[in-house]
Amino acid sequence: MESQAVGAIPDEVISKPAEGPASIRLPATAYVEPVLSADEGLTPSGTGHLNWAELKQKVRDCSACTLRAGCKQTVFGVGDENAEWLFVGEGPGADEDAQGEPFVGQAGKLLDNMLASIRLKRGSNVYIANIVKCRPPGNRTPEPDEIATCLPYLQRQIALIKPKLIVALGKTAATSLLGRDASLGSLRGAIHDYHGTPLIVTYHPAYLLRSPAEKAKAWQDLCFARQRMAT
Ligand code: URA
Repeated sequence: MESQAVGAIPDEVISKPAEGPASIRLPATAYVEPVLSADEGLTPSGTGHLNWAELKQKVRDCSACTLRAGCKQTVFGVGDENAEWLFVGEGPGADEDAQGEPFVGQAGKLLDNMLASIRLKRGSNVYIANIVKCRPPGNRTPEPDEIATCLPYLQRQIALIKPKLIVALGKTAATSLLGRDASLGSLRGAIHDYHGTPLIVTYHPAYLLRSPAEKAKAWQDLCFARQRMAT
């Protein structure tokens, strides 16, 4: 049972300017049921039995949608593969595409500070992944068919990690995982269910960079998540 006091999200981080178009949009992608193709090798089908090494290889080799042609590399995910906490974002931006790791740009710095505010640290009981593994061109929101194609990879990651709590960062992550469209505001403040795993929704850090006034609400969500994890 963890009951230690936690600090607030630091102002100096949360109010930094956004890094570019990718970091200032709040995605609005409608959920589309994943469509699994039998075309092994090219598509994410048949991920259900894969171990970590096989899954990583399959993502590296994936060319199932057009996103792969427009990015430098796939961005699999990072962190503790037995983490209790799973944070899910939307998709890699330019920095993530260059470095091959999720949330390493300005939004990532804010995410690290959001984690620190509830005494969490990237890589330590925390795993960070995205809905899509390839950077959408111009940092646009991933299309529903791209999300549907890529989602089996994240679903397998979740099955392997078995987190105690999923924190969906932004609307794309939330609606893609929950399988229904809804506004971010309507999804906050509740415990949702992702196939038996509790899921909490908060603002995407990139949105918070643009809208620092919302930091108080994000802070509430993080405290809510911390409280849920302690019970
Ligand atoms: N935004 C995301 O949703 N994911 C990242 O990895 C970086 C920025």
